[in-house]
Amino acid sequence: MSRDSTTKVLSVAFLLCVICSILVSAAAVGLSERQERNKVEEKKKTILQAAGLYEADRTIEEQFSKIETRLVDLQTGEFSSDFDPDTFDSRAAARDPETRYRIPEEQDLAAIKSRSRYKDVYLVMADDSLQQLILPVHGKGLWSTMYGFISLADDLNTVNGFAFYEHGETPGLGGEIDNPSWKKQWPGKKVYDATGKTRIEVLKGTVDKNSPDAIYQADGLAGATLTARGVGNLLKYWMGENGYKPFLDKLKVSGVTQ
Ligand SMILES: Cc1cc2nc3c(=O)[nH]c(=O)nc-3n(C[C@H](O)[C@H](O)[C@H](O)COP(=O)(O)O)c2cc1C
Repeated sequence: MSRDSTTKVLSVAFLLCVICSILVSAAAVGLSERQERNKVEEKKKTILQAAGLYEADRTIEEQFSKIETRLVDLQTGEFSSDFDPDTFDSRAAARDPETRYRIPEEQDLAAIKSRSRYKDVYLVMADDSLQQLILPVHGKGLWSTMYGFISLADDLNTVNGFAFYEHGETPGLGGEIDNPSWKKQWPGKKVYDATGKTRIEVLKGTVDKNSPDAIYQADGLAGATLTARGVGNLLKYWMGENGYKPFLDKLKVSGVTQ
């Protein structure tokens, strides 16, 4: 067979394709465990960051050992021992008919259609008393579902921190939700007013610091109104009556021993 024959060229090209696809598949399979581990680490890091506890020079495992994971049943508003909180996967549970709650359209502020009946929550304790409570939240932005954590102080109303660990918004536009200068406005904001109404919101522009409502409000993102609106909506959903509010109301009365 001549070196330049069509059959030979096609055979070499085919062989090259087979070799490359084997290499790519092997890399994908070989690295999937590490990718999974990195995802779990990133989630734990965001929990620590939301709580203001993250220190770059210490291992995540060591820092996370201070945090207690519990499971909440959003239907009863109480802690639950129906599943192991350390292995519970609330994303999978949102798809499982046994644990899924389909959100009625008129309540679906976060545009997520369904959520798990149970949620993993994270407690920072000191001498048997709750210092911080970190809650997972998620909802639709412009392009993606944004996953993050909000940390509340021991009054279960003051925000200690708020950070996302996964989203697909555009870097430089919606991706500015990760910008430290946007994130630093959250600590000190209040979620509920004196009547218990969920007031936390993201504005289209900037917050008027002299307004009595400023304590509930965060600045929007210029050029990324849709992402910012998504953030405000997901906070309203998760901190509202159909999210964590019934649980937080009970927790304020009975404490973490319930
Ligand atoms: C390539 C591209 C990517 C965009 N990414 C985002 C985004 O991640 N988040 C967002 O809210 N708007 C994004 N926008 C802009 C929206 O289409 C829309 O114009 C914007 O949210 C309006 O915000 P503004 O009223 O602050 O200008 C993007 C636009 C383009 C062309």
